[in-house]
Amino acid sequence: MTLSVQPHLAAVDAPPIWEAQGWIAGRTFPAQKPLIDVCQAVPGYPPADAQLDHMAAALRLPETHRYTEFGGIARLRDALAADINRSYASGGAVARENIFATAGCNQAFCLVASALAKAGDEIILPLPAYFNYTMWLQMTGVGVRHVPFRVEAHGVPDLSDIRAAITPRTKALVLISPNNPTGAIYAPNYLNAAFELCREAGIALVLDETYRDFLGCEGAPHALFQRGDWQDTLIHLYSFSKVFCLTGYRVGAIVADPKFLDEVGKEMDCVAICPPHIGQIGAAFGLEQLDEWRRVNSAKMSARLEAMRKAFVRGDLGYALVSSGAYFAYLKHPHAGRKSYDVAKRLAERQHVLALPGSIFGPDQDDYIRMAFANVEASAMDDIAARLAADAMDLSW
Ligand SMILES: Cc1ncc(COP(=O)(O)O)c(C=O)c1O
Repeated sequence: MTLSVQPHLAAVDAPPIWEAQGWIAGRTFPAQKPLIDVCQAVPGYPPADAQLDHMAAALRLPETHRYTEFGGIARLRDALAADINRSYASGGAVARENIFATAGCNQAFCLVASALAKAGDEIILPLPAYFNYTMWLQMTGVGVRHVPFRVEAHGVPDLSDIRAAITPRTKALVLISPNNPTGAIYAPNYLNAAFELCREAGIALVLDETYRDFLGCEGAPHALFQRGDWQDTLIHLYSFSKVFCLTGYRVGAIVADPKFLDEVGKEMDCVAICPPHIGQIGAAFGLEQLDEWRRVNSAKMSARLEAMRKAFVRGDLGYALVSSGAYFAYLKHPHAGRKSYDVAKRLAERQHVLALPGSIFGPDQDDYIRMAFANVEASAMDDIAARLAADAMDLSW
C-alpha cells in the first residue's frame, strides 16, 4: 500500500474477533461435534416480537427516516433517565439532560475518551482490559496505563494499584462491571471507594455497565447516582445491544454532566450526526414496555451461568475457572508456557470450541482464555466441559 497511515493507528493490531472467526472460516463441523461459538458476546435469542412490530410500524413514519438530535430522541432519553432512577434508586437525580444516546457503547467510550484525553494524556484500564477500549486509546495516541490482574480477587482490581497508576497526565479510570472479559462484579462499596479515589485525584471515573441487566441479583448495582456530587466525577456508559438483543441497531448511551455532554455533542455531530433513529425507537420501546421480558431473559442468563459453573467443577477439566459472571467466564488454561493464542486456536481446530485468547486483553494474560457463554444454551455446558477436559489431555501440538 502506498497510502500513508498515521503511526498510532498502523501500530494497532487487527480486530481480534474477526481474526478468531478466521480460524473456522470455510470449515464444516460434524453433527456429533458441532461448533460451539463462545467467541463474541452476543445474546443467543432474538429481540422481543412486540419490539420488532413496533420498529416495523415506525419504519412507515416519515420522521423515522430523518436525523435526530445528536444526543438522541427525547423519548429515549426520558425512558433511560427513568430506568436509571428506578434501577439505582436515585430518586430523580438523573434527568433527560444527563443522557446522550450513541451508536452503541463502543462509540460512547470513543466519544468520552476523546473528550477527556488528548494525545499524550493517559487513561487507566485495569487488566485484563476490554480490547476495543485499548485499541481506541492506542490509535488516538492516548497512553494506556494498566493495573495488575488480581487473580485472588477474581479480577477485581486493587485500589492501591489504581492509586499508584495515577500520574499528572491521567484523565480517567475506566471500570467495567460486570466485567468483560472476567465477568467480575464490583460491589457497591468498592465502586464508591473508586469514585472517592478518582474525585480526590481530579480524574473521571468512566463506568461501563453494558451488562448491568445480568447481575444475577436484585437491588441497585451501586449507589453512585445517589450522591449529590455524582456529575463531577462519574461518566456512566450503557448499551442496548445485550439487554434487548439490538446489537445490529447500534444504540448505547452516555450518562454524565450536561456541560460535558455539550462537548461530546460536537464530536457526535462530526462522526455520525446522531445514533441510528430506528435503533433509538427500538431501545425506547424496550425501556418502556419490556420489563418482564428483560427479567425473564436476565434469569435465563443466570441459569446459563449456573449451568456453566456446575459443569466446570469436574475433576479432569484441566482448566481453572478464575472468574465468571454476566456473559463471561475467564479460564486459566492447563498448557503452562503455551501462548493463549495457540491454545485458543487449537481448541477451535480440534475441539470445535471458539473462544478468545487472553493475550488480546493485554499484557500478562497468556495463561487465560475468555468464553462468552451467553449465546450457548445451558444444556451445552457439559459438552463444553467435556471438550475442555479432552483438550487438557491432548499433549500433541
Ligand atoms: C464492556 C463492553 N462495552 C461495550 C461494548 C460494546 O457494546 P455496543 O454493542 O453497545 O457498542 C461491549 C460489547 O461486547 C462490551 O463488552
